[in-house]
Amino acid sequence: MTLSEEKLKYFIHTYGCQMNIHDSEKIAGILESMGYFSTDQVEDADVVVFNTCCIRETAEQKIYGHIGAIKKLKRAKPDLIAVVCGCMSQQEGVAEKIRTSYPFVDIVLGTSNLDALRDAILSAQKKKKVFNVEFSRYREEDFTQSRTSYPNAWVNINYGCNNFCTYCIVPYVRGRERSRPLDDVLEEVKQLLADGYKEITLLGQNVNSYGHDLEGNVTFAALLHNIGSLPGKFRLRFMTSHPKDLSQEVIDAIAAHPNICNNIHLPVQSGSTEILRRMNRRYTRDDYFALIDKIRAKLPDVGITTDIMVGFPGETEKDFCDTLDLVKHVKYSSAFCFVYSRRKGTPAYSMEDQVPYAIKKDRITRLLACQNEVTKEISQKMVGQNYEVLVEGANFRYENTMCGRTESGRLVNFKCDESNIGQFVTVKIERASSATLWGSITEEK
Ligand code: 5AD
Ligand code: SF4
Repeated sequence: MTLSEEKLKYFIHTYGCQMNIHDSEKIAGILESMGYFSTDQVEDADVVVFNTCCIRETAEQKIYGHIGAIKKLKRAKPDLIAVVCGCMSQQEGVAEKIRTSYPFVDIVLGTSNLDALRDAILSAQKKKKVFNVEFSRYREEDFTQSRTSYPNAWVNINYGCNNFCTYCIVPYVRGRERSRPLDDVLEEVKQLLADGYKEITLLGQNVNSYGHDLEGNVTFAALLHNIGSLPGKFRLRFMTSHPKDLSQEVIDAIAAHPNICNNIHLPVQSGSTEILRRMNRRYTRDDYFALIDKIRAKLPDVGITTDIMVGFPGETEKDFCDTLDLVKHVKYSSAFCFVYSRRKGTPAYSMEDQVPYAIKKDRITRLLACQNEVTKEISQKMVGQNYEVLVEGANFRYENTMCGRTESGRLVNFKCDESNIGQFVTVKIERASSATLWGSITEEK
């Protein structure tokens, strides 16, 4: 046996949003600090982690299938440690379900007690199971993170959510809003920049309410001003913004600092005021349009992206047409479109007038086609123009092709090699096929 085969290895399955992708970097950091090495072959792993998502039923079903597949691996390798963590394990009844239906799982941890992972692994090594889904509060600074997304780095600024949109499971599985102290965030960002990261993305379920639970008058706008004023060439992004909380001060901060990207992810969910009311979104269609006008007045080149849901209980054809109409008018650079999924424990679960699947399917198809037209129109306008792009990584489908994003968040493909990753370049857009842009470098910086 060679040395490398004796090394203990881990494999992480990550499902869901950026928040989970970043949590997996923390999990990797903890495992590496315990002497485990990463492997891309799950069969070789001594620890397999499922970092789960439960925002839609389809995600959940897929994950249970993958967890079930571990049974066979474990039979061949009895010392294998199986860990389930993330949002799904925090749902009511899920830890119990895993205990009874998936008895080969050794560790179940919730979303807010990753700091317990180290001790849990040590227990599991002695064949002792650990199920811990209590809410706690760990400090980021207590982990070394194993970052995998250079030149980008994710930074949490607040956890949890207080909004209770009636369809959404997140407030139940991630708990109430907790902001990290401004100085902690600032220190982490400074360190990342010193380490050579070129793009920082601030993460929170609702970044705009950052600071309301902190001492003093700390706001998201203040955080943006602090980070935006740091020296050096880098980009700052953030997500997600709730439309009801996006203030003029935040818009002004984006305008004031050239390194804060002209890019806002502003989930609308629906274009119908009545559906928005039933979703408990706390803005109307008109409020949303007014906000878009306010943003574009100050940031004319901004790229706005969104999340939209079809088939929320009670959504009529007229409500859906209001959504299509809004999409045509706002002109999002891209939109994540979802079919409403009924989540147990949320108010919308027991609402009457659930929309039949056939109608949901028809609406999502029409919505995707509508947004596709908008994206195409925006892409066509970009052809012939120069944009600053951060070279982010390889597009493995094509030889010597890298990709990166414009400030507004559009992905561009262009020829160069991996030595350019992490550099800012100027790319002239030469052609566009709907969502995909192609160009060539005109200047390296
Ligand atoms: N069904 C479908 N989509 C959902 N989202 C949140 N909850 C649900 C649900 N129950 C979508 C919203 C949110 C995004 C992260 O996921 O659009 O903005
Ligand atoms: Fe869910 Fe609404 Fe909170 Fe977003 S703002 S995480 S959709 S409850």
